[in-house]
Amino acid sequence: MSDERLFSLRNGWFRAGVGAAIVVFFLSVLIGFVWLPSAKSDPQFQGIWNAICSAAGVPRLWHPVESAVAPTWQVSTVELTPHMLDGATSLSIGRGATLSLRCTMCHGPRGMSMANSPNLAGQYAIVIYKELHDFQTGARQNAVMSPMAHDLSDQDMRDLAAYYASLPAVAHLHGEAPDIVAHGAPLRNIPACASCHGGVDSKVGSPWLDGLPAPYTKAQLLDFAKGTRHNDISEQMRNIARNMTPEEIDAAAAWYAGQSPQ
Ligand code: HEC
Ligand code: HEC
Repeated sequence: MSDERLFSLRNGWFRAGVGAAIVVFFLSVLIGFVWLPSAKSDPQFQGIWNAICSAAGVPRLWHPVESAVAPTWQVSTVELTPHMLDGATSLSIGRGATLSLRCTMCHGPRGMSMANSPNLAGQYAIVIYKELHDFQTGARQNAVMSPMAHDLSDQDMRDLAAYYASLPAVAHLHGEAPDIVAHGAPLRNIPACASCHGGVDSKVGSPWLDGLPAPYTKAQLLDFAKGTRHNDISEQMRNIARNMTPEEIDAAAAWYAGQSPQ
């Protein structure tokens, strides 16, 4: 028997072999690309065309997955980088000092609040800038501060940040930190406060807490826990505050305010 006759359509066996291969091929395409994917209930597999695309690994952007819904509130739009506000000029600090005259009523003449507003003296420039920006965009809301930030230009915010950061901060003045501050609560996924807020380490964007009035610190922690303050990037503080006990919140607030631990 010659090769020519073996691979010829006139050969019945050859025709049957090729035919069977084609049938098996289409069957497996149907099963793999259409039937199996469309048996799944996920939205990205619904419809024959979507099932084929998904099985072939083509990204399907026009079928957003329902679970990734955007939050209904304004999120912070500030992108933090470690050196974004470095090298403030004396001109900028001077402009900031002039602008700060509108703020003294609540934040004190040199950024040390006599009422229960947060101190701004010695606060990191990045924090002041970010918080003002968040009050302006609505990412952080407060009946008093939101209107104060409303008309500030980007340069105003930089100048105010430079000015307040140039003032002396309250230094660590107290004895041993409570457990939650020094060690956190690893079983409840709470890192030590000191690992971000200074003491052990200071992470970009984490405010200086020393000297903050206890009622303010406590109110912020409760707001993070409830989610009414939600401008923390990646929910860092919301996740922490939610897992804190009321006693831990009181202890941290008292300690940062410089009160001796109960
Ligand atoms: C009428 C009182 C008042 C005035 C005036 C005021 N603030 Fe505030 N400020 C507050 C209060 C109260 C808060 C705390 C808001 C909260 O509880 O969320 C605050 C918060 C802030 C914060 C956030 C601090 C932090 O640690 O998170 C910054 C920054 C700030 N103010 C800057 C300013 C600047 C700059 C001005 C002037 C342009 C100003 N404030 C004017 C009352 C005031
Ligand atoms: C992983 C880092 C990290 C840890 C750990 C952490 N924080 Fe924070 N905290 C932040 C950041 C970042 C912010 C600023 C959020 C924003 O963008 O407004 C913040 C904000 C705060 C504020 C608001 C301060 C202000 O001036 O408005 C308080 C109060 C606070 N943290 C308390 C705590 C306490 C108490 C602990 C420990 C139980 C803690 N934090 C642990 C990162 C951290």
